Amino acid sequence: MSASLGAALRSVLLTADPGGKVMAARAVARDWRLGRLDFTFDVAMPDSPARPARPELLPPNRMPKRGRGGSERGRIALWHALAHIEFVAIDLAIDMAGRFGAQMGPGFVGDFLSVAADEAMHFAILQRHLRVLGSTYGDLPAHAGLWEAAEKTRHDVAARLAVVPMVLEARGLDVTPATITRVLDSGDVTGSRILQRILDDEIRHVRIGTTHFVAWCANKQKAPESHWKELVGRYFGGAIKPPFNDSARLAAGLSRDFYAAIA
Ligand SMILES: [Fe+2]
Ligand SMILES: [Fe+2]
Repeated sequence: MSASLGAALRSVLLTADPGGKVMAARAVARDWRLGRLDFTFDVAMPDSPARPARPELLPPNRMPKRGRGGSERGRIALWHALAHIEFVAIDLAIDMAGRFGAQMGPGFVGDFLSVAADEAMHFAILQRHLRVLGSTYGDLPAHAGLWEAAEKTRHDVAARLAVVPMVLEARGLDVTPATITRVLDSGDVTGSRILQRILDDEIRHVRIGTTHFVAWCANKQKAPESHWKELVGRYFGGAIKPPFNDSARLAAGLSRDFYAAIA
């Protein structure tokens, strides 16, 4: 008999060590693809995933200013912040599959495990880049608030999809092109290639989230645009701020009907 999917996902969330989490996430995605895991959810997902002793997690208002991008310290701070986002993104994708998979079905699980495998790869290449710059993940403090959206939406898959892929990951589509330009201007060609690859993958992640959200709405006979606005208003504190990367958002299935009125 093969192992349960729920238990495998829970054990990824409970792995604190960054390298260990990367390997565990990729292994569960592969095992699922190869049919080695039973579609059973016999354990609960933890409220919060395990975190390594470092980085120290600070509330946003206590995070040191990143300073100008040109300095060596500023560059390391940028890559460290990006690595932290990807590290948390591994758990966000695994929790999506583990918490809502039973209700949403095997197709949903397969999609979010492919996202988790991407996020693990993103973290690993950012970590490698940090090391080339003489640093490593954990050297600097990191943003403590990235799990908040998951916590607020842990009872409702539609709210989770509305906020995590369709707001937070979509925000990455908006800001990454300017970061790529800045990184390229500083002469870091490898860094700009890494970010371009991440941007391409993130378009797919937003599309996966949007597709499942729209299907969920169709199933419940709700209009996706207005239901999305309602959920974002209830569960996402901040405003959805322009400038928008309209072409990337459109490629991800997020038409302006979703976010124009809310911006
Ligand atoms: Fe990512
Ligand atoms: Fe992503």
